[in-house]
Amino acid sequence: MSSLLDAVPVLPVVVVDDVSHAVPVARALVAGGLPAIELTLRTPVALDAIRAIAAEVPEILVGAGTVTTPDQAKLAAEAGARFLVSPGLTPSLLSSMRDTGLPFLPGTATVSEVLTALEAGCTELKFFPAAASGGTAYLTAIGSPLPSARFCPTGGITPTSAPAYLALPNVGCVGGSWLTPADALATGDWDRVTTLAREAAALRVS
Ligand code: 3PG
Repeated sequence: MSSLLDAVPVLPVVVVDDVSHAVPVARALVAGGLPAIELTLRTPVALDAIRAIAAEVPEILVGAGTVTTPDQAKLAAEAGARFLVSPGLTPSLLSSMRDTGLPFLPGTATVSEVLTALEAGCTELKFFPAAASGGTAYLTAIGSPLPSARFCPTGGITPTSAPAYLALPNVGCVGGSWLTPADALATGDWDRVTTLAREAAALRVS
């Protein structure tokens, strides 16, 4: 993969409470033209969900999100995650994510955190929580002093606000949970997920 940030314009951030939802939600995203999923490690079934998607939907790029401890990085890699995303960074989290050999997006929200990530050799970063941390104005402001950093802003982004982020030169993709609403998963409304994915896939700025 040339760059994690160039895989899809919108990276679906997904919370799965029921492992039986994992494969259908992954298939629904692929059907809508978004062959990537950040499965968050926020529920007890998350690692099993990653395992199921890796085994049954090989056409999707499955990654683990909300990686907050060094152990989780290792467990996610063992479960079949092909990339890792963390909401923030610590030295041990950075080194454990690097040790997996997988591409990863460390979370940053301040200039010093971006500098810490750059010092560690990471140039592709998550910007979180994007809207609450200053949104497009913040990313524009740090673009000139920190030109080597590229971001996946996530947190508070909507289909309406996403295009302004995607138009920024230091943004590769955005992340969002709006493609997989909890009620759509609970009711098995996979067509709705596919429709939301199709709309998001069309947001790519050429
Ligand atoms: C994340 O985990 O990256 C965010 O919680 C997703 O944010 P959103 O729900 O505002 O899209």
